[in-house]
Amino acid sequence: MTIRETSSIPVLTLDPTGSDHHGEAARLRELGPVVRVVLPGDVHAWAVTGHALLADLVTDPRVSKDWHNWTAIQRGEIADDWPLTGMVKVTNMVTADGREHHRLRRIVTQTLTPRRVQDMRPRITEIVGAILDALPSHAGPDGSVDLRRHFAYPVPMQVICELTGVPDHERPELRALVDSIFRSTTTPQEVVDTQRDIYLLLNRVVALRRADPGDDLTSALITARDQDPGALSEEELVGTLWLMLSAGHETTLSLIVNAVRALLTHPDQRALALAGDDTTWAAVVEETLRWDAPIGNFLARYPLEDIEIAGVTIPAGEAILAPYSAVGRDDTQHGPHADRFDITRKQNRNLAFGGGPHLCLGAPLARLEAAVALPALFARHPDLALAVDPAALTPVPSLFSNSVQSLPVHLNGAP
Ligand code: HEM
Repeated sequence: MTIRETSSIPVLTLDPTGSDHHGEAARLRELGPVVRVVLPGDVHAWAVTGHALLADLVTDPRVSKDWHNWTAIQRGEIADDWPLTGMVKVTNMVTADGREHHRLRRIVTQTLTPRRVQDMRPRITEIVGAILDALPSHAGPDGSVDLRRHFAYPVPMQVICELTGVPDHERPELRALVDSIFRSTTTPQEVVDTQRDIYLLLNRVVALRRADPGDDLTSALITARDQDPGALSEEELVGTLWLMLSAGHETTLSLIVNAVRALLTHPDQRALALAGDDTTWAAVVEETLRWDAPIGNFLARYPLEDIEIAGVTIPAGEAILAPYSAVGRDDTQHGPHADRFDITRKQNRNLAFGGGPHLCLGAPLARLEAAVALPALFARHPDLALAVDPAALTPVPSLFSNSVQSLPVHLNGAP
């Protein structure tokens, strides 16, 4: 993290390894409501670091989500092998505006209705139960189990793959590809290979579901396209499937990891959670989203005209980063102890799922998965304990994904 000033607006170079994610988020807040940030490859962008200003920005119709409006891309200044390409240059609802956005989002919300999500509870409970049954068998020589790998990862992976009709044998590769796009330290060759392999994998899944349709989201997208090819192009179909697969598991995986880590390192909060009920566990989920946002930063928004925020003009065509971790601990929104993990706090709306028209479409599903997984884990293993010093946990090397690479625990307490 290096800081310098040009024309009185502070500039912060963001660390793609995520080595001090919350330290960096705190620096962003300290530097002011609007900060210039430098991304890998010396690519410049802006960050709006206060909750209220970011909440306004995400609903501002003068700001586009379409990367074609980024002047640096139009000028050819951002190569296709830029490490953040997989997060920025996508074709789906995340990068669509207005009517196009509505069209792409509606095709998914017609299938993933609130009712369908609620109906998934028994199946999610079953999935969690089976994964918990297998957990002790993953203990290493020192008796510890990596909870990220063997619990937090397979739960949302199984759920999203069942929802989208992705067969079991594709899951290891899917995991590796999602991991690659969320990493901000990939080499140019890895970026190119990943983009190619994503395309190949998605086409295999779409071909499979075309030949053998089911009650899944991919089949629903194929039907929507077959009924009206103008309503959904093949590229949009594949892009939407990719969005659901990537957004649908990496984020929820981090939420579960971050919640378990928070409880294991805050014994008083853990005691409250274990003594509580469903409402208490919902509070654990909400507080984790706020305090340790699974998507720490997200790219990007592009003003269609010069816009002024807190007295700073952000020119049309520049990129704006949404720093969800920074705003999650903004004390003007969350009070003087915003940096404390406190499941009893009166929640005052957090932006961990974004906001405005692009508010996370999977939020109810993510909340449900965490609300089932967390109490089930602690009920099965009430003495769960970290197997390493929390300071030794290694962050995910990402500007976007905020979590740790492994979470070694002793299932039945420290030996
Ligand atoms: C804890 C888990 C999750 C977090 C923290 C999260 C976070 C976010 C955020 C911050 C955005 C808005 C991005 C922006 O424009 O700034 C978003 C959008 C989205 N998320 Fe999630 N997400 C989670 C889980 C999920 C799941 C489980 C799914 C799929 C089932 C999903 C699907 C989507 C989709 C489709 C969008 C795009 C919505 C649109 O552009 O209209 N997310 N998510």
